[in-house]
Amino acid sequence: MTLLSKKISELAERKTKAQEGGGASAIAKQIAMGKLPARERINQLLDEDSFFEYDLFIEHDARGFGLDGKALAGDGVVIGTGTVNGKPVAVYAQDFTVAGGSLGSMHAKKITKIMDYALKMQIPLIGINDSGGARIQEGVNALAGYGEIFYRNTQASGVIPQLSVILGPCAGGAVYSPALTDFVFVVDKISKMFITGPEVIKSVLGEEIDMESLGGARVHSEITGNAHFFANSEAECFQQIKTLLDYIPANNKCKREKREKFHDPKRSYKVEEIVPVDPTKPYDVREVIKALTDESEFFEVQELWAANIVVGFGRIAGRTVGFIANQPLVLAGVLDCDSSDKAARFIRYCDAFEIPIVTIEDMPGYLPGIDQEHSGVIRHGAKLLYAYSEATVPKMTVILRKAYGGGYIAMNSRHLRADFVFAWPTAEIAVMGPEGAANIIFRKEIMEAENPDEMRKAKVEEYKQKFANPYVAAAKGYIDAVINPEETRKYLIQALEVSQDKLVKGPDKKHGIPPF
Ligand code: HXC
Repeated sequence: MTLLSKKISELAERKTKAQEGGGASAIAKQIAMGKLPARERINQLLDEDSFFEYDLFIEHDARGFGLDGKALAGDGVVIGTGTVNGKPVAVYAQDFTVAGGSLGSMHAKKITKIMDYALKMQIPLIGINDSGGARIQEGVNALAGYGEIFYRNTQASGVIPQLSVILGPCAGGAVYSPALTDFVFVVDKISKMFITGPEVIKSVLGEEIDMESLGGARVHSEITGNAHFFANSEAECFQQIKTLLDYIPANNKCKREKREKFHDPKRSYKVEEIVPVDPTKPYDVREVIKALTDESEFFEVQELWAANIVVGFGRIAGRTVGFIANQPLVLAGVLDCDSSDKAARFIRYCDAFEIPIVTIEDMPGYLPGIDQEHSGVIRHGAKLLYAYSEATVPKMTVILRKAYGGGYIAMNSRHLRADFVFAWPTAEIAVMGPEGAANIIFRKEIMEAENPDEMRKAKVEEYKQKFANPYVAAAKGYIDAVINPEETRKYLIQALEVSQDKLVKGPDKKHGIPPF
């Protein structure tokens, strides 16, 4: 054996040892729970043979609480770079088999190193989180590590996409870092997120709850809104990540991509067959979106939370656009605290990454009521006004039916600087619906009439004739065109085409103070 081959075989031995993680039995336990080992997760997510691992031989230098001399392979985290769909990404995956994936100071140094690479190289960062949070034995050094990560998450926000995948029980910093990132992916039965686990809750508050009910994948997809994508398996989750990365740019300076191949834009779009003319009848707005996109594809974000608004990505004539659409199937598509929150954040994402926004409007306004008022609908609703007003990407609105009251203004109206507003002939743009309006402005006449019901009907009809149409707004120039519904895609393609080099300069300021 030559000296070189001896050195090479020593390297191979060291590598094998370092890649053993927490050992065979810990890995078997991980697999028994339906979880993949950290490196396998990365290999499944990235293009075949594209992963290059760094800092494999990192060792912790912690003392006390049994850590002296205790080997923690790679300090519980795997980092490196590779490609997804042929495009470069930076990635880290915490290894739960090594001290519960807990974050010590060297573990944090590895993560911050790959974050720095991602920001410097202007490529997306994907973090696979499977960790009990700050390593308790390392005290303030572990907390410092998370502080360094949070700072970088914030610096990178709006510059490179940051994707967080939750693939195990994640606590403390292991959920706060994801909360600072753009998109959080969860898997049923595998993902758990909480700031402290059931044990601590029991000892501090005496409350008993299991991990799944406290912070399982469904809880965060349906109730809290902390998660953006829900999957039934790790494999499905990785596919979702690949799809998302296909829609979004690698950084905020990327020139907008245009696919040359897409469905014939001249095909007949039967959007009008999806939407009933009667404004009280529901329909699924996602079908309208799919009737407008290339290949009828729509990639929905936060599908299970605040379903009265639909947000997600699609392509129109080869270009990625972000859709924001009221959903008449759920609560008549009304705006409320959660739907405002959801839409506002998505608008800010699109704006940061130069993705044009298409708004599909059909809603009766903001939801009234004590619950909403006390939950802060003023503050949350204002986020939507702020996000649309602030966004400088091309912004198009299509009003299908109802555009009432504050909702009319909030859903990317001309007044918040929409670039193009189109309305179908079925659009109703007014302060409120005809029934409500007639009851208020004609109350006296209705009360004093011989037949109040007849009078109410007549007044509702009078109001409808006058205001429940798009022509009053068209007469003022608040909408740009009343269009035949089947021409919607054609108008959007043209609007996107002409606004490619849109230039808007706002006032000189450090940053605004949005209502969050
Ligand atoms: C050190 C930890 C750890 C931690 C888990 N382990 N969390 N070691 N520091 N934070 C270790 C366990 O001791 C155990 O080691 C192994 O990981 C597996 O943990 P188990 O408890 O056996 O697993 P499980 O039953 O699945 O429970 C997972 C868990 C639980 C829910 C994550 O371990 C837990 O509640 N951990 C503490 C979570 C927490 O409160 N973290 C907050 C940290 S503060 P052995 O050797 O037995 O295999 C924080 C501050 C950030 O992060 C700042 C926020 C703003």
